[in-house]
Amino acid sequence: MSEGSGFTSMAGARAEGDAPEIGVGMLGYAFMGKAHSHAMLNIAHMMYPPPAVPRLVGIAGRDEQAVAEAARRYGYSGYYTDWRAMLDNDDIQLFDNGGPNDTHAEPCIVAAEHGKHILCEKPLARTADEAQAMLEAVQKAGVKNLVAFNYRFVPAIRQIRKLVDSGLLGQIYHFRAVYLQEWVMAHYDLPMIWRLQKSAAGSGALGDLGAHIIDLGRYLVGEVKSVAGTTRTFIEERPQDDGTMGKVDVDDAFTALLEFDNGALGTVEASRFAAGRKNGLRLEINAEKASIVFNLERLNELEIFWVGDEPEEAQGFRNVLVSEPSHPWWENWWPQGHIIGWEHTFVHEITHLLDCIVNDSAVSPIGADFVDGYRNAVICDAILEAAASRRQVDCVYAA
Ligand SMILES: NC(=O)c1ccc[n+]([C@@H]2O[C@H](COP(=O)([O-])OP(=O)(O)OC[C@H]3O[C@@H](n4cnc5c(N)ncnc54)[C@H](O)[C@@H]3O)[C@@H](O)[C@H]2O)c1
Repeated sequence: MSEGSGFTSMAGARAEGDAPEIGVGMLGYAFMGKAHSHAMLNIAHMMYPPPAVPRLVGIAGRDEQAVAEAARRYGYSGYYTDWRAMLDNDDIQLFDNGGPNDTHAEPCIVAAEHGKHILCEKPLARTADEAQAMLEAVQKAGVKNLVAFNYRFVPAIRQIRKLVDSGLLGQIYHFRAVYLQEWVMAHYDLPMIWRLQKSAAGSGALGDLGAHIIDLGRYLVGEVKSVAGTTRTFIEERPQDDGTMGKVDVDDAFTALLEFDNGALGTVEASRFAAGRKNGLRLEINAEKASIVFNLERLNELEIFWVGDEPEEAQGFRNVLVSEPSHPWWENWWPQGHIIGWEHTFVHEITHLLDCIVNDSAVSPIGADFVDGYRNAVICDAILEAAASRRQVDCVYAA
């Protein structure tokens, strides 16, 4: 499977029957457990020839009936009510962590100690300190590691990175990104959930949504040097299961300024209080020779303006449909113009990780590894510190 011209690390041609199997153990069976399992089942079918075929060995959750049902539905051979027991299974070579943020660190560290390769959902951890411990564990164990910043695996996003790497855009001046949702607003009558509690989530819109666009900023523009930011919690109490009101101690929204090492300026904003915005991720890059716009609601497209490309009276952004066989990952899908969706990012992401495992190649920069996850957490921590202190904060990376 190739992601397009200029990229060579995917496994060479081999019949599916010759592809090795990689046993997978999954933690969590809800939103991400379902998305990842769905992707794994598609890999041998669509990413032909696959670098490896995932074998769904086990899935772990706390509720026996629910996790048994998930195992049946998603196609896992077995289920566990204790993730530690799952990690003892030698048939599992890849641990996929789709649990809430407070279940990322310990299971991933134990998985690394058991020599399992790891795919962990984002944000890697609740804090940079926690992320650093996870990074040290995978580095010590020498296992492959990927943080599920799946938007790197949208073909159009990968195509932007290719344009950046080619030098065609020239110097980048601005990175501007928003990630907007509405599902915690008052009209949703939402009770207290783990995403609204610092002990479980680490932060709110920042770690949940902001982490994605911060990752895209690092992926497309470069390393972040310093940040300034503001956070806000609009609804401070929510009803809990026991009938009492619980305090929401994470941000409902944040805005931040980023200063990149290469001199580019960034603005990033995420909110769960943007009425009408269901999953609105949009970004714009303004560079010396072009501007590029990406909108997740039209994920097969890019809007591009090339400086000096048109006569003055006919200038404007042009729409590029990213669906040619030469575009990243497209040769594995449909004839041009037969568009793909959000779920396919996970197919690309997991195929990339399998390829890295089989061919012992680097996860980053095509995917985000635990170094990226750790650095992302440093930036998120710095934004919280900047918001609390009302000052610009330098990002200090220990790795
Ligand atoms: N990449 C993306 O686009 C994306 C989208 C949504 C969520 N996420 C991330 O994925 C992770 C999970 O989010 P989600 O939306 O799937 O959450 P969810 O609440 O829908 O599912 C969490 C799952 O973990 C299980 N779980 C909770 N605590 C557990 C424990 N102690 N032991 C075992 N299982 C446990 C729950 O039963 C459930 O199956 C989070 O880190 C989140 O930030 C990423």
